[in-house]
Amino acid sequence: MTTNPNAADPIAANTDQQLVNNSAADPSRRQLLAGAGLLAAVPVVRAGGGRSAQQTGSSHAPLATTSTAGAAPDGTPEQIHLTWGSDPTTTMVASWASPGQAQQPRLLVNNPSGKVIEVPAAERTYTDGINGETVWTYHAEMTGLRPDSTYSYVVTADNDSSAEPFSGSFRTAPSGRAPFRFTSFGDLATPNTAWVLSYGQSAFAVAAVESFAPLFHLLNGDLCYADLNPTVQPQVWRDFGNNNQASAANRAWMPCLGNHETEFNNGSQGFTSYLTRYSLPDNGVHGFSGRWYSFQVGNVLFVSLDADDVVYQDSGAFVGGPGALIPATSTGNPPIEPGTSLYLRGYSGGAQTAWLERTLRHARSDDSIDWIVAQMHQIACSSSVTGNGSDLGIRQEWLPLFDRYEVDLVLNGHDHDYERSFPVRGADSMVGTEIATGQPTQTLRPHPVTTTDSGVFDTSTGTVHLVLGCGGTSAPLDEYGLDTSDGLPQAKIFTKPNRPIPTGTPNVFARAAADAHEDAIWSARRDTSTGYGIAVFDVDPGSPHEGTTSITVRYFHAVGADPTNPTSGSKGSPTADYTQFETFTLTRPRSDRHS
Ligand SMILES: [Fe+2]
Repeated sequence: MTTNPNAADPIAANTDQQLVNNSAADPSRRQLLAGAGLLAAVPVVRAGGGRSAQQTGSSHAPLATTSTAGAAPDGTPEQIHLTWGSDPTTTMVASWASPGQAQQPRLLVNNPSGKVIEVPAAERTYTDGINGETVWTYHAEMTGLRPDSTYSYVVTADNDSSAEPFSGSFRTAPSGRAPFRFTSFGDLATPNTAWVLSYGQSAFAVAAVESFAPLFHLLNGDLCYADLNPTVQPQVWRDFGNNNQASAANRAWMPCLGNHETEFNNGSQGFTSYLTRYSLPDNGVHGFSGRWYSFQVGNVLFVSLDADDVVYQDSGAFVGGPGALIPATSTGNPPIEPGTSLYLRGYSGGAQTAWLERTLRHARSDDSIDWIVAQMHQIACSSSVTGNGSDLGIRQEWLPLFDRYEVDLVLNGHDHDYERSFPVRGADSMVGTEIATGQPTQTLRPHPVTTTDSGVFDTSTGTVHLVLGCGGTSAPLDEYGLDTSDGLPQAKIFTKPNRPIPTGTPNVFARAAADAHEDAIWSARRDTSTGYGIAVFDVDPGSPHEGTTSITVRYFHAVGADPTNPTSGSKGSPTADYTQFETFTLTRPRSDRHS
């Protein structure tokens, strides 16, 4: 952390007058800033107007749904988003964007002794490869924080034109084995229904995270579907960031890459928008920073992966035709012809899987780690029939590692529903069926270690997979496969690439659905009532005397939020009402039980 010796000095008299004026209009806000020890350190505050202030949490900018037409783009922070640094007990990164280039972008944070520390923000920028818009982002890493402590902060810049600089607060992770809560979902989108796959539920989903007040949230890929709105990608990201800010400014939101984070002309894998916006723990793998990472909170190691690297199915960036996608002239980029997609399988050349193996091996030799929770977007165990289904690539590349190192829990997105597997270990060979021919084919079906839904599962015996693509996008996929011959759940599996192929219409291309199916004997529970919800995880470290630790999982769903429920056909609309669908408990022995 960089200390600015001037940060705590009294501010200039004229600016102080502005503060007084502003606080008169909004006295609670002055109380917050003063209480946080930040008031005297805010050098630019303009009077008039003002956002509503809260005693805790962040001040929230109104949702921006349009471009900055009519106002000169300046350095006003927006899309504020927190992520853990390398050590969640002592580090936090605040990231934000601004409509134009910020002058002297910075963060001010109070340390526990009351001293205000100024952290200059690092600038990262890119120019969108389709519409030519330049995106300005800023990242301020706070280090040397105390564990299990609350901090207030302000982000601003010399050309911040907001009535008041944005302020928020967060809590660092506890050190050692301690109870904590995290939440998760993926496939969030934005509340701005002008955008493809956006839907009003995404605002309620963010509010749901806040309602459970987790230490942090896992966002399991397919963040905003900007790639499906290719000529306006930066605007979609902006609406997404401003919607998330209502929670992500108060606690870390840890994302992973999905198939819809791929964008044409934005980097070699199309990840530039994502990689520019988020500052994520370093994976130490040259050339692949930000694509996968790990961090430890309490007795849990969280491993965030990019399954684009191993899945057979194609990515989200795709031009179906008949017209080409024409980038703005300013980009200098040529038209993207129909039939073009970004196929990413194998992009790291095995580097990610090698990193994963190293990371898991170290974790299982670390007495401070009991649980391993993996986050990835695409799915090894999904039986959605309207969705994508499962992917053999994950089963081939990563499930053997999950078995060897006893990964306890895998959290996915991708299919917009909720599905839970029994604990699985190993695979049943050659029990799949090729859909085109009806012939047996290899799907490496994950083998359930039990098919009794007892509600308590020892994950040292098998890995539980959860599909949590239930954030807020407009296309719920809560319809599930059934083998009518035996009444068992049935899953589709991609066992080969589904690259674009010509259709019968000239210049129009399509991509095939999953090519195989299997009886999904690993499927334990599927929510047919809605495609929307949030999973809440409460970690209990247990005691050395007991020798076991547990995670209580509750899944809350938003019944009635499906625009059209695929099972019942009933029409619905976005709702703030999240009710409990199910609860279950995971247990495992503590790794320090013999020490
Ligand atoms: Fe997806």
